[in-house]
Amino acid sequence: MALFATMEQLTPKKFRLRSFRLRGERMTKAQSEALLNHWNRFEVPLEGVIDPPSLFYGIKPEKVIFEIGSGMGETTAKIAVANPTNGYVAVEVHKPGIGALIIHAESLGIRNLKIINEDIIDVLHDHIADSSIDGFHIFFPDPWPKRAQHKRRLLQPAFIELLAQKMKSGAEISIATDWLPYAKEIEKNFSSNNSVIGGVIERPSWRPITKFEGKGISKEHVVTDLHYMRR
Ligand SMILES: C[S@@+](CC[C@H](N)C(=O)[O-])C[C@H]1O[C@@H](n2cnc3c(N)ncnc32)[C@H](O)[C@@H]1O
Repeated sequence: MALFATMEQLTPKKFRLRSFRLRGERMTKAQSEALLNHWNRFEVPLEGVIDPPSLFYGIKPEKVIFEIGSGMGETTAKIAVANPTNGYVAVEVHKPGIGALIIHAESLGIRNLKIINEDIIDVLHDHIADSSIDGFHIFFPDPWPKRAQHKRRLLQPAFIELLAQKMKSGAEISIATDWLPYAKEIEKNFSSNNSVIGGVIERPSWRPITKFEGKGISKEHVVTDLHYMRR
């Protein structure tokens, strides 16, 4: 594991280089109303260690999948609706995106979804037990294309090790990116971790197209899907 990655990603909150850009928190009226009226039904309180299956009142999920960086939530909502026997936890730092996700979830009557408004690194470190997660979805993580920004990329060796640590044996990670150099880096970083096995796959038919992906496709970016399993 590269030492610089460990230093960048695993240092305490206030010193860490973030994997996201803090955009404006300005929300549409509908997004702020959605948060105001429904946040308490979706919120995962960050107190102590979370027991993922117990987050879903009245449902005993077969699997609990964490989606890292759910953005505006279109994919999250569609996947949750298509898989009612699973529980989904969307982790996103951007509040307007959370408002948008709640609007989708409400309009589709989704009950198997919870949301965390926090940096995933802190969530995993402070609130998730080892070997407790069934899967992660990471769709279109910020590519940080400029060389000077590469160290802000999420899928670096130290973070991959953290994911592996939190996954049950047989748990899966599904990733998609429209930035080819990042796809190659992701592949390289995963291949140096002995706890996971996998690589590039065909686009899975179950993964809906997000707004972000649509933008990439319109710029003729090639989309790469990757899949890994915890040994
Ligand atoms: C490029 S967007 C993609 C959003 C969505 N998955 C899609 O495909 O449209 C990446 C998202 O990841 C979120 N993000 C980046 N780093 C994060 C972190 N450490 N914890 C939680 N969310 C993060 C950003 O706020 C942003 O919304």
